Amino acid sequence: MKAIVFTEYGTPDVLKIKEVAKPTPKDNEILVKVYATPINYGDLLARNFGNLTPSEFNMPAPLYLPSRMSFGWNKPKITILGSELAGEVEAVGKDVTKFKAGDQVFAYLGMNMGANAEYVCIPETGTVALKPVNLSYEKAATLPYGAIMATSLLGKAKIRSGQKVLINGASGGIGSMAVQLARQFGAEVTGVCGTPRLEFVRSLGADKVIDYTKEDFTQNGETYDLIFDILGRSSFSRVKHSLKPNGIYLLASFKMKALLQMLWTSITGSKQKVICAFANETPESLDFVKKLVEEGKIKASVDKSFPMEQTAEAHRYVEKGRKKGNVVITLEL
Ligand SMILES: NC(=O)c1ccc[n+]([C@@H]2O[C@H](COP(=O)([O-])OP(=O)(O)OC[C@H]3O[C@@H](n4cnc5c(N)ncnc54)[C@H](OP(=O)(O)O)[C@@H]3O)[C@@H](O)[C@H]2O)c1
Repeated sequence: MKAIVFTEYGTPDVLKIKEVAKPTPKDNEILVKVYATPINYGDLLARNFGNLTPSEFNMPAPLYLPSRMSFGWNKPKITILGSELAGEVEAVGKDVTKFKAGDQVFAYLGMNMGANAEYVCIPETGTVALKPVNLSYEKAATLPYGAIMATSLLGKAKIRSGQKVLINGASGGIGSMAVQLARQFGAEVTGVCGTPRLEFVRSLGADKVIDYTKEDFTQNGETYDLIFDILGRSSFSRVKHSLKPNGIYLLASFKMKALLQMLWTSITGSKQKVICAFANETPESLDFVKKLVEEGKIKASVDKSFPMEQTAEAHRYVEKGRKKGNVVITLEL
């Protein structure tokens, strides 16, 4: 089968199309023919992880060394990128009961990756579900990562109807789903992003949008029940005055300082709380979002598609910060 393979860290030029062995499903696995796989934050990170300095690492410093070792110190251990996909089940292992050949699925592979290939094997108990019936493979493939991260993290903050919520990083993979889900939960949503993506975030249903290049949301006098910062570009000391007395500061990316603030706000019984959390990867998040998509309550957006042969070009497009929505690699139907 064809796959996009990289054997050294670096620029998009390290991504090469190659012939590799087609995988065979184990007894508990499904073999999926991949039709679409988006490029997200994790792909760019993994492609260049060997050149990432500890200060550029978006998570607590003690996780840098184990992460670097698990990615591969000098060269990548995982050589095929792609953490989400949509495709068709071609074959199933003998113990599989949940799926059958011909099922149209969408899936999240997490940091195991491997979706930038014509075929991938997934355990039937993995983060895989039937795709929304009203979406193309291309659009459905853009949902799993955001769906899992946003449902899980917003759930940890116990988002409720009537709350005033601010999403810092509203135009990205996690934020664009978080805006839509927060609206579905009945919250009033303000989305923060860069100038080129203001209209995109408004189109997702945000009640208000703020351009972070022109306005500092911590200085406008507004207060929120929940501030969800995706990249962790704000800080608790700065957002404190923008939180309501019982407000929650939720972080998808966090360093040691934020972890200590979480501990402090928890043990001191502070009404304002800091929550730093990792998302739980469950197929239930996919089923939940599938239902909302089929009811027309959530949409998937594709900014640009590239054929598999142009994967390096697609990485360059994403890296230059040009995308408005998702960038997807499409494979032959
Ligand atoms: N906790 C977990 O379980 C978990 C899981 C996966 C990933 N993560 C973390 O999530 C992050 C990636 O999220 P993603 O995939 O949504 O990233 P993404 O698609 O790259 O989106 C990043 C967002 O941040 C915005 N942004 C950039 N600079 C900003 C600034 N100075 N102020 C405010 N917003 C800014 C971008 O806006 P514009 O593009 O409009 O400029 C965009 O909306 C990573 O840090 C990763 O470590 C956490």
